[in-house]
Amino acid sequence: MQRIADLMKEGEAAVRRPLGDARLLPSGFYTSPEIFEDEREKIFRRNWVSVGHVAELPNAGDRFPIDVAGEPLLIVRGRDGVVRALSAVCRHRAMLLAEGAGNAGTISCPYHKWTYALDGALMAAPLMEGVSPLDAAACALPPFACEVWNGFIFVNLDGCAAPLAVSLAPLGEELAPWKMDELEIVGRVVFEQPCNWKVLVDNFMEAYHHFAIHPETFEPNYPAALSHADNARGPFAALRMPHKGNELSEPLFPPLPDIPGEARRGFSVFNVYPSMLLAVFADTVTWYRMEIESVDSFRLTIYLLAHPRSLDVPDAEALKEFLRQAATAVHIEDIAACEGVQKGLESGMAIPARLSHLEAAMRQHQQWLMAELVRP
Ligand code: FES
Ligand SMILES: [Fe+2]
Repeated sequence: MQRIADLMKEGEAAVRRPLGDARLLPSGFYTSPEIFEDEREKIFRRNWVSVGHVAELPNAGDRFPIDVAGEPLLIVRGRDGVVRALSAVCRHRAMLLAEGAGNAGTISCPYHKWTYALDGALMAAPLMEGVSPLDAAACALPPFACEVWNGFIFVNLDGCAAPLAVSLAPLGEELAPWKMDELEIVGRVVFEQPCNWKVLVDNFMEAYHHFAIHPETFEPNYPAALSHADNARGPFAALRMPHKGNELSEPLFPPLPDIPGEARRGFSVFNVYPSMLLAVFADTVTWYRMEIESVDSFRLTIYLLAHPRSLDVPDAEALKEFLRQAATAVHIEDIAACEGVQKGLESGMAIPARLSHLEAAMRQHQQWLMAELVRP
């Protein structure tokens, strides 16, 4: 216990230093099961966590299962059009209700076929006539707070987080021209990642590594040295990657007409805290969804999204395939770095590293993280 208290003190001291003398969080933040349990409680149960996009649930009855901080959930669109996050634990003997994405008019437990409506109300419980009447409220699947922001579905397990539209207002305003609630899923690529979730967040939120890890994919057009972070404006970080020479980037698809010229001269990446990673290009959006399983593993789904109007071009299918391959190739370059870092952090030789000025967005996240971990 003392070790964790010391680690927290070291973490707070690390993020308080000025950027010019900044340190990474101590390696225990990436390797300690106790810190991970703390993160589950204080980070992932208390804050909004992005779990899906409305494009996955176009129709009533569409659903997919997801685990947030160890809580099995079913994200489902009701007959009233509302997207809900229901507990996926059956109210009979706790069987998990969902195995995969799909569509049905009801939610049916595979074990004894108790059947629920799309809003979680119990509709039928076979062969239960011999017992006293079931309590409808106790037998309904409990809902968790669920919000759709810019087309992305978020869940807040403790139900106390401030509405996203308020806390993310400046980001919502910037992203409005992309019409993110109308995006179509062009591709999804899944990776099982043997590292702490923050190793990927750190990697995503700095372009310092472009010249070393992406010498052919990013560095030629988006050099590390030009990247820069915005000052903090809310519970998110923004990193800008200008095109070298301030030239217009060559998009794959025609961007929507209202995308500002500035956004066409490079791209931006965002971390909506704790872990929603977005790369926003003029013509497409890449979203990294993390399902965090343990201190050193998570499942990553890379979503590639674009607006249907941008996709209305003759060679759309070939371009989509190109996009899927390019995104996969870039991430494979990053995997080697992330896995190497995790092994290094697990050795006794990892020190709280000095950071570059190019790692400012990463540090903003760590400052937010520490503030959440010490919040009563
Ligand atoms: S556990 Fe679900 S019906 Fe029995
Ligand atoms: Fe990278």
